[in-house]
Amino acid sequence: MSTERITKKLTFKTFRFNSETDFLPYFKTYEMEVGKDELVLDILNRIKWEFDGSFSYRRSCRHGICGACAIKVNGKPVLSCKQNVWELVDIFQTDTLLLEPQSKKRVVKDMIIDRSDFWKKHAQLKPYLEAEIDEHPEEEIKVSPKEAEELLEADYCIQCGSCYYACPVVEVNEEYFGPAQFAKAYRFNADVRDTAKTDRLETVREMGPGVWDCVKCFECAEACPKDVNPIEKITKLHNQLFEEGLAQDNVATRHAVGFKHSIIKHGILDEGELVRYSEGNIGVLKHLPEAIAMFKKGKIVMPWNMPKSKNLDEIQTLVKSSSKVKF
Ligand code: FES
Repeated sequence: MSTERITKKLTFKTFRFNSETDFLPYFKTYEMEVGKDELVLDILNRIKWEFDGSFSYRRSCRHGICGACAIKVNGKPVLSCKQNVWELVDIFQTDTLLLEPQSKKRVVKDMIIDRSDFWKKHAQLKPYLEAEIDEHPEEEIKVSPKEAEELLEADYCIQCGSCYYACPVVEVNEEYFGPAQFAKAYRFNADVRDTAKTDRLETVREMGPGVWDCVKCFECAEACPKDVNPIEKITKLHNQLFEEGLAQDNVATRHAVGFKHSIIKHGILDEGELVRYSEGNIGVLKHLPEAIAMFKKGKIVMPWNMPKSKNLDEIQTLVKSSSKVKF
């Protein structure tokens, strides 16, 4: 039996920058034979050990637990210690892979970024259990399997930051908490032992930093290496705000309410009415050019011409039975 190692010759175009000595970043390419079991972290190690000892990156556990080794390969967020290299070659159909840090504007050195904004926001959402503690309990505090299921695996988050640095809102809105932070807030809000739910909801409900600024692009769900699905937790926080009576009157909450009203009334979405509901009669004027363009294309109709779904009764019953809160 042949013991010859099967390899592929691959090229790694690698982002390099030292914030202390470089004016601009640059790319260096490294070519090497890569075996089918090698991980991205093996490649980072080999660049450092075989080519350039100054190459810098973070890693610690090598078991997908600490989140330290997260980078981007061809723009795809990965945990270096879990991601197989041949698999990426298959996905991207190329022998050249681009290794980059999670966020180029935060680079300290090569793959190492300054994550202070991530951790600062993380700390603001009380990422821990707050509970009344009986100092002399007679038995352990039990959480039933059904109650534990309510966490929706938000506790799998390892704070690697993959979702945070993939989120387009984080890039344009410096105060936005970010998907990892919201997933953590949900994780403790859903814990039956926790008593800080109201505090967290009052923090995440603000326009700007809060959950209403999520643009629902699903980049966070796509980026998460642990399948935490942060956008699902953001939607849960929206629901909790309504359930707890903490939702404030703003364009985003009115949009949610208008959406429900439209479905109850027509069984389908009335786009024109939704904008009027969210922005108000005056606010709607600023969308007039888009409204006229949509009207011409038949995307919106006059209110009196709005059609109704032929399954309206069924839809109304479904909305009624699935609604947990009164708006
Ligand atoms: Fe810990 Fe990769 S080294 S997650």
